[in-house]
Amino acid sequence: MTATLDLAPLSQKDLLCTSSLTAHDIERIFATARALKAGRETHTQVLRHKRLAMIFEKDSLRTRFTFDIGMQDMGGSAVFMDHRDARLGSRESVKDMAKNLERWVHGIVARTFKHKALEELALHADIPVINGLSDFVHPCQALSDFFTLTEKWGTVKGRTLTYVGDGNNTCHALIHTAVKLGANIRVCSPEGYEPNSRVVNEAMRTAQDSGAEVTISNDPDAAADGADAIYTDVWASMGQEDEIEERNGIFAAYQVDDEMMRRANPGALFMHCLPAHRGWEVTQEVMDGPQSVVYDIAENRLHVQKAVLALLLR
Ligand code: CP
Ligand code: NVA
Repeated sequence: MTATLDLAPLSQKDLLCTSSLTAHDIERIFATARALKAGRETHTQVLRHKRLAMIFEKDSLRTRFTFDIGMQDMGGSAVFMDHRDARLGSRESVKDMAKNLERWVHGIVARTFKHKALEELALHADIPVINGLSDFVHPCQALSDFFTLTEKWGTVKGRTLTYVGDGNNTCHALIHTAVKLGANIRVCSPEGYEPNSRVVNEAMRTAQDSGAEVTISNDPDAAADGADAIYTDVWASMGQEDEIEERNGIFAAYQVDDEMMRRANPGALFMHCLPAHRGWEVTQEVMDGPQSVVYDIAENRLHVQKAVLALLLR
């Protein structure tokens, strides 16, 4: 038996950041993802005749495949525009792009360098705009991460997720999402690579309502102690290729290895958004070991983003 879908709209037209969603929106995304995952062969007409534009300024495996396959699974289709050679707004204004696309498609997924470009698209398009990663934040990733944790644990409330590494787009999305859901989030980065202070301050305010704890530090041992999951991401994100060598030195003490996993709670999970670099931010043993749930997360990108599409596209 597959559950009937409740496709009432979310509180927002777009998904640019999970911080703009309510906890109820996130719970509805998770409930829809669960139903779509259980009924992949059943819910095949949810987006019949709906079209999605996908505009990517950066490389992608997971985001591109899962949005495209997600549309196909639900009876719709996607058109991909490779924008790696030019930033959005370089050939024509972002506004004009939005005003054209809204005449042809029912939603836009964009992967950009500047988060502002996404905000501008969303401002001018009457159709939903979904953030497929910007330099600032990666909301679809964090939704899939926390969806996976709810599958593993039942609830994430009161559990502790430790993120070790660069205070980047993935880290910001995890902070935004954790505090909405009442999960504790500890971030541990080298000095100068901490998450954006506005994100942290806003999260601390949200955490007062949800009961979450937010801890920012430079000490990997303390951050790992008693954690329920340890998460890491690349040390140099797309667009920071020039800094790889320098960052490899600065981040060396922040590698997730067996010793760090032993400091965490027994049975703690290892998480990574992927792509991963074995031997750098994570050892091969941890990445491929029994505590790693990285491919479960990758699978769930499909189900969670299908839920986002089903709830946003009209
Ligand atoms: N995790 C993630 O977004 O993967 P891609 O960059 O391959 O889309
Ligand atoms: N922080 C990484 C995430 C990749 C999915 C990047 O932006 O390259």
